[in-house]
Amino acid sequence: MLNLTPLQQEMLDGEHGAGTQVAMEIIVALGKIYEAKSLIPVESTQISGVSYMNIGEAGVEFLEKLARGNARARIKAMLNPCGLDLKDWEVLGFREDFYKNQIRVIDAYKAVGIEPTCTCTPYLIGIAPQFGTHVAWSESSAVSYVNSVLGARTNREGGPSALCAAITGFTANYGLHLSSQRVPNYLIKVECEVKSYEDFALLGIILGRKLKHAIPLIQGLNPRHCLNDNLKQLGASMAATGAVALYHMEGITPESRNHPEWIEKLESSGKEMVILSLDEINEIPGLALDKDAMVPVDLVFFGCPHASSDEIIDILKSLKHEKVKTRVWIATARALQERLIQDSDLLRDLDENVHLISDTCIVVSPLSSLNLKNIVTNSGKAYYYLNNKKNINVKLVSTRECIDAAINGMIKK
Ligand code: F3S
Repeated sequence: MLNLTPLQQEMLDGEHGAGTQVAMEIIVALGKIYEAKSLIPVESTQISGVSYMNIGEAGVEFLEKLARGNARARIKAMLNPCGLDLKDWEVLGFREDFYKNQIRVIDAYKAVGIEPTCTCTPYLIGIAPQFGTHVAWSESSAVSYVNSVLGARTNREGGPSALCAAITGFTANYGLHLSSQRVPNYLIKVECEVKSYEDFALLGIILGRKLKHAIPLIQGLNPRHCLNDNLKQLGASMAATGAVALYHMEGITPESRNHPEWIEKLESSGKEMVILSLDEINEIPGLALDKDAMVPVDLVFFGCPHASSDEIIDILKSLKHEKVKTRVWIATARALQERLIQDSDLLRDLDENVHLISDTCIVVSPLSSLNLKNIVTNSGKAYYYLNNKKNINVKLVSTRECIDAAINGMIKK
């Protein structure tokens, strides 16, 4: 049975306004479905479903109804990427009608007090939940990072439930908020070399496909290679091809350090899997990385999840003084972009085809208006989603190969 505190009951009874009441009704309904015994306060929320392509008119109307009912966020509440760069949309080739609709979505969120951060990596702009704290985030790569790398706690919220958590300040206490539900239930022994960013992307694609909803404990990776950017890439890919919302990396992620008994238990239960080669990706239907004829590239895309300053600086340094033959987008958080462009030297001597973009990403953008056919990326998640889109060819290659594709305007198909 779900027990409510007096404040939660007041919200449910409408004493804090009609908008808050609707939000609390949804949180309570979810709590009952998942058999939670209580609601817990959350420190922040991150809300997906921001691109006009995804939320549409019905979503805008729901937000406007909440705002009319005086619903306002009570806690730190942020947005996932939207469908275009809110400043440079015209230069990048987006259409005005889409821009106007996207602005309506952003304004509707702002009216309920949600900050238009428009990023899937708030932890790179100073909003990194502390170990053990409870939040309600919804973008799958962000959820993976928060749970796994930071050791804070969140379920993979839907956009509406994260929004309701923002308005009430509470979420239902079930799933990954509970210590008992954060224990690994699969042991992964990696026996091949996993070193680079794209290696982590490939491993994530393979594991997500095999594990679905499981919580893996991963062994065998060299801590030297487990940089935060690589873990970000691993988690994003695993959450895309599966629904892995939490992974533990032996001796590296914070919760794995306190539980030496986990390995013994998993070994004795026989729930283990060995990864011998990253070439296993070629056995996943529709995802084979074939390497034949050269094709012209329409876009080289970096920044899924949104790029960190280290990633951006490395890419921009590699492209400095180069003639770039195709469009290059590096997606990142607006706040990070603004900080980086204060370094005037960073953007000097770059080809006009190179764009540091913000607020958006290629996966949530309306691609049909951009006339893109052949896209190259170093992101496992972007590769996975674009691969499923009609009339788009996408290739997953190393960061270096992406740079070469930008310079040559071509890639092996
Ligand atoms: Fe982020 Fe878009 Fe990738 S939301 S994780 S950059 S698909």
